[in-house]
Amino acid sequence: MARTKTVYRCEGCGADAPQWSGRCPACGEWNSLVESLTGEATSRPAGGARVARLSVARPLGEVDPVEWAPRPVGVDEFDRVLSGGLVPGSVTLLGGEPGIGKSTLVLQALASLADRAERVLYISGEEAAQQVRLRAERLGALQPTLWFVAETRLDEILRHIDDVAPSVVVIDSIQTVSDPTVASAAGSVTQVRECSARLVQEAKARGVAVVLVGHVTKEGELAGPRVLEHLVDTVLSFSGERHHALRLLRAVKHRFGSTDELGLFEMTGSGLIGLPDPSRLFLADRRPGVAGSVVVPTMEGHRPLLVELQALVTGEVPGSPRRSAQGLDPGRLAFLLAVLEQRAGLPLGHSDVYALAVGGVKVVEPASDLAIALAVASAQLDRAVPADWVLIGEVGLGGELRQVAQTDRRLSEAARLGFTRALVPPSAPDGPEGLDLVRVSTVAEAIELIPSRSQHRFRPGPVATTG
Ligand code: TYD
Ligand code: MG
Repeated sequence: MARTKTVYRCEGCGADAPQWSGRCPACGEWNSLVESLTGEATSRPAGGARVARLSVARPLGEVDPVEWAPRPVGVDEFDRVLSGGLVPGSVTLLGGEPGIGKSTLVLQALASLADRAERVLYISGEEAAQQVRLRAERLGALQPTLWFVAETRLDEILRHIDDVAPSVVVIDSIQTVSDPTVASAAGSVTQVRECSARLVQEAKARGVAVVLVGHVTKEGELAGPRVLEHLVDTVLSFSGERHHALRLLRAVKHRFGSTDELGLFEMTGSGLIGLPDPSRLFLADRRPGVAGSVVVPTMEGHRPLLVELQALVTGEVPGSPRRSAQGLDPGRLAFLLAVLEQRAGLPLGHSDVYALAVGGVKVVEPASDLAIALAVASAQLDRAVPADWVLIGEVGLGGELRQVAQTDRRLSEAARLGFTRALVPPSAPDGPEGLDLVRVSTVAEAIELIPSRSQHRFRPGPVATTG
């Protein structure tokens, strides 16, 4: 027989503590520890007696895969991230900061399903019917099979699901749902966890796909319980810069497919519009021939994105110089400035340096090192990097260039958009036709390749001419 003992389990993160305290030692949540017994789950009837069976084991090959077939929502960028669509009986958590566009996205997804005469149900605990109707009108989401109810009580929500019998239900947001039988305030860790667990069970039992909208704090944590992430099948994160129209949808966890896909949208006056060709958008306003501007082919999961990076370097300033990195990793920028100074002899120590990724994207992979370094060098030397070049490579402490992952995909995307030359590390694979690869060993060598002002012929950027 297994022995049981008393522990104090955090209702937020599930960690066990031997003693009660006001704050969970693991996750820092206040008043989340409750007394519980361990050892119960592992105890077995004496002598290994047989117990009634609730599940049946069978050869894996006999499991019906169709049960888990995703059904397309009809919003392409959404389906891309879901590896095809929503799986009946599954629960998807859509997290994002307040105001980023979660309600807009789910309403558009439901409208698209209802366009194909699917019965769908939108449950809001945040907005009244009139408010939602106004938004739905704007988004063209007033189909007769799109049902709505403003409700926050869990038992009522389940009753509505039974009444409407939809194939997809959205609950906006999970933080507003509460179960009166759970002695905890709405929005508390306990309520959110208990209600989600119940919804997961009910979704499975009814074969209905449930999408839970969840607000996320500035730090990117789901307000309250991280524990939600392992209750649900799929966790999506919706993000973007508040002052840019670009919105990014990623799967953080996905039981039915890859988490490598990225969905891109633009927030417009008439809702979210999918961006099947984002590189073109990112480069649309680029001014060719300006010192400090370069283009880097980055990867977002499996998706190549061409992004413009810009740098500005001032003359010598008194006191400690400013360094600003927008959409870039500040630590990486500092590192690259040190390499430029020490290995390429650029005097940057007394100048302010501003560097940014254009368009509201974040470019944090080391593959963009060479591009950031050349943007800064180009700005410092006041020599423009030709508009039809792209730059790929990770930079080491010695200023040497290193090979990066998925170089071929990056190069293909650059060629597709009309770029003609790529500066790459020595070991890079051959590029596609039409793209001239220049293999360089060090940052200093790459800087030498930037044409001096007299050499520079003005050429329009490739995207400006083709797009
Ligand atoms: P919303 O979907 O309410 O965000 P969330 O549910 O994540 O809190 O959208 C918030 C913002 O989006 C709001 O500031 C208005 C803007 N918006 C548009 O720009 N266009 C639109 O068509 C809609 C519906 C909203
Ligand atoms: Mg909302």
